[in-house]
Amino acid sequence: MPVLSVRDLSIDYTTRKGPVHAVRDVSFELEQSETLAIIGESGSGKTTLAVGLIRLSPRGTKVTSGEILYTKKGLTTDVRTLDDDDLREYRWAEAAMVFQAALNSFNPVISIWEQFNDTARAHGMKDSRRVRDRADELLDLVHLDAKRVLPAFPHELSGGMKQRVLIALALMLEPQLVILDEPTTALDILTQRSIIDLLKQLRERLGFSMIFISHDLSIAAELADRMITMYAGRVVEEANVDDMFYRPRHPYSVGLLRAVPRVSGALGSVASIPGSPPDLMRLPKGCSYAPRCPYAIDECRAADPPLIPVDTPRHQAACIRWKHVAEVLGSNAEVPVAEKLA
Ligand SMILES: Nc1ncnc2c1ncn2[C@@H]1O[C@H](COP(=O)(O)OP(=O)(O)O)[C@@H](O)[C@H]1O
Ligand SMILES: [Mg+2]
Repeated sequence: MPVLSVRDLSIDYTTRKGPVHAVRDVSFELEQSETLAIIGESGSGKTTLAVGLIRLSPRGTKVTSGEILYTKKGLTTDVRTLDDDDLREYRWAEAAMVFQAALNSFNPVISIWEQFNDTARAHGMKDSRRVRDRADELLDLVHLDAKRVLPAFPHELSGGMKQRVLIALALMLEPQLVILDEPTTALDILTQRSIIDLLKQLRERLGFSMIFISHDLSIAAELADRMITMYAGRVVEEANVDDMFYRPRHPYSVGLLRAVPRVSGALGSVASIPGSPPDLMRLPKGCSYAPRCPYAIDECRAADPPLIPVDTPRHQAACIRWKHVAEVLGSNAEVPVAEKLA
C-alpha cells in the first residue's frame, strides 16, 4: 500500500489573463520509506505540485481535477477532503515540507530557539522543558550543537546550518513523509554534499518517505529510488534511478542529463537545453516539448502523447519517439548519457 497516491492531479493559477495550467494530470505513487525525486527546469510545476500536496497553495489556485490519497495504518484519506483541523495535523505530523528558498525567509529577529518553541506551540506542545529536550534531540540528529545554535539568530548561521535547522524543524512531529523543495539549490557544492549525506542518514534512521525536488538530475539521483521528470506541468517520464540515469527515453530527460556538469569536463561544459518552456496559458498543440526537441517529427505536433511503458512496465515516457531515443543513446548501459552525447 503506497503512503501517497496522486491521481490525475491538475492545478491552475487563476490570473487576470486566464488560467495558468501549472500542473497537468500528474499521477504517481510513493511507497513507505521510498524516495521519489521530481526534476525539471524552473517553471515546470514542481513547487506548485509540492505545495498542492499539502494544500498550502496560494489564493487563486484551483485544483481542477484529481485525488491525493494518503494512507496511514491501512486507512486511506483524500487530502483534498480534509477539514482545517485534520489538515493542520496532516501538514506537520504526517507530511512535513521544507520550502524552496526558506533559507532566506527565516524571521531575522527571532532566535532559533524561538523558532522551535513557536513551531512546537503551534502543535500543542506547551511545556518549554519538553520542547527544549526535543530541540536538543533534533539538532543532534542533524549534527548541530544545540548549545551554540539555539540562542543564535539566523544571520549568525551559515546557509548549510540554516538548512539543517529547517530539516530539524520539519522532523519535529515525526512525519511519515518529508517533502523537500530544492533544499540544496542555494548552497555551495560541499554543503550540498553534506545535506545529501545527512538526508540519507536521517531516512535510514527514521524511515520516512521522501519527495525530493530539484532541477539538478545528478543531485536527485544520489538520493532517489525513483524519479519523475516534469515538463510544462506534466510528468513526461517516470523510472527508477538507474533507468532514468542510464536509459532515459524522453528527449527532455536526456536534455536534463546533458545539462549535468561533468566533473572531468572543462569549465562551461554544461549544456543547457536550447529554447524555453512553453507559455502555460497557451500550450502548443501536441507534445509541449516538440518545439525544443531535436527528435520531433510532424506527428509529435498533432497530439499530446500519453505516458506509455517503455523498456519495462515500471518505466514510462510520454514520447512517441522513445525507440529512436533509445537507438541514439545506444545500448551501453554503463556510460552516463552526458558522456555518450559529449
Ligand atoms: N501565484 C502564481 N500565479 C500565476 N502563475 C504562477 C504562480 N506561481 C507560479 N506560477 C507559474 O506556474 C508555473 C510553475 O511554477 P512552479 O511550480 O513554481 O515551477 P518550478 O517549481 O518547477 O520552478 C510557472 O510558469 C510559474 O510562472
Ligand atoms: Mg520551484
